[in-house]
Amino acid sequence: MSCNRECVLVSGGAGYIGTHTTVALIEAGYDVVVVDNFSNSDASAISGVEKIVGRKIAFHQVDTCDRDALKRVFEQHGFNSVIHFAAFKAVGESVADPLKYYQNNLVSFMNILDLMKEYQRPNVLFSSSATVYGDTDTLPVTEESPRQPAMSPYGNTKQIAEDVLRDCCRAYDAIYGIALRYFNPIGAHPSALIGELPRGVPNNLLPYVTQTAAGVRQCLSIFGNDYDTPDGTCLRDYIDVVDLARAHVAALARMLHHGMKDKYEIFNVGTGNPVSVLELVNSFIEANGVDVPFKISGRRQGDVPAVWADTALANKELGWKTERNLTQTLRAAWAWEKHLRNID
Ligand code: UFG
Repeated sequence: MSCNRECVLVSGGAGYIGTHTTVALIEAGYDVVVVDNFSNSDASAISGVEKIVGRKIAFHQVDTCDRDALKRVFEQHGFNSVIHFAAFKAVGESVADPLKYYQNNLVSFMNILDLMKEYQRPNVLFSSSATVYGDTDTLPVTEESPRQPAMSPYGNTKQIAEDVLRDCCRAYDAIYGIALRYFNPIGAHPSALIGELPRGVPNNLLPYVTQTAAGVRQCLSIFGNDYDTPDGTCLRDYIDVVDLARAHVAALARMLHHGMKDKYEIFNVGTGNPVSVLELVNSFIEANGVDVPFKISGRRQGDVPAVWADTALANKELGWKTERNLTQTLRAAWAWEKHLRNID
């Protein structure tokens, strides 16, 4: 099957950001082909997307590290653009098992780039992360802020992959790339049909909060209240996953409509507003009228005290801005948790 309308390959399209972006793409009129190996998701993510958009989507259970299987997808579908999400993302696990991360996150991306080159599919959006800024002292961080040495193998895979993409865009006439550096994606689709599916004990703050509110976890630990920040807890830039998904649609349009100023571009995707851990937890309690028992614990190794985005470039060049406020985001996150747990 080749695509009639403008078609996009979404790798990792059954994942947290991948599902929301797939919905946003379809709603914007694109045809989407999803590949995912379900390493950190399952078929329910695809059926959630299908329920929201009201139709079947083209899906292949393929590991992007498997070049031959991926090649068959390139042969079968006529997309011009790829959005590459497929990657492992647990910081702690990457410290314990770096090879797993280097192998998966880099081989998969190189397969994508290599096949794009072979099949002359020019555009790629890469899922990068604020982690590339490391422990930065310029706040808010702009795209020009220097990248600090990576604080984990996971972070290093994002830095290396950005460099691989930059070099490919320089070297190969037919490859154009945009790296989106996500800050802290949170929330869920307002339908509560898709959201994050953390396996085991969540590493990230908001899934831990929602699970504690649902009674799955007894008590949230706030990792440190002795940072040099207004309330002593870390500051982050929490971006609604639906707004983040829309940023991909905007970046894709820029590529397809020849709006790029450079063959390789980078954009921060955040809100520009720093929010402390305590503020996030208290806002969640207030937005949803639920209890979240918490205690202050020691600092978590590797946490930077504060990082938030300067979003001026994305606002101007992508014509994108956030639309959802924190209360809406925190309500959607709780609605999704209740959906998962069958709580009324
Ligand atoms: N936190 C808690 N308790 C928890 C979990 C988190 O207090 O149970 C705190 C953390 O200490 C941190 C804040 O909540 O201060 C946010 O932590 P997350 O784990 O949700 O997010 P991080 O900012 O650590 O991680 C995010 C992305 C990673 C990325 C990293 C580096 O999830 O993919 O940013 O910028 F690598």
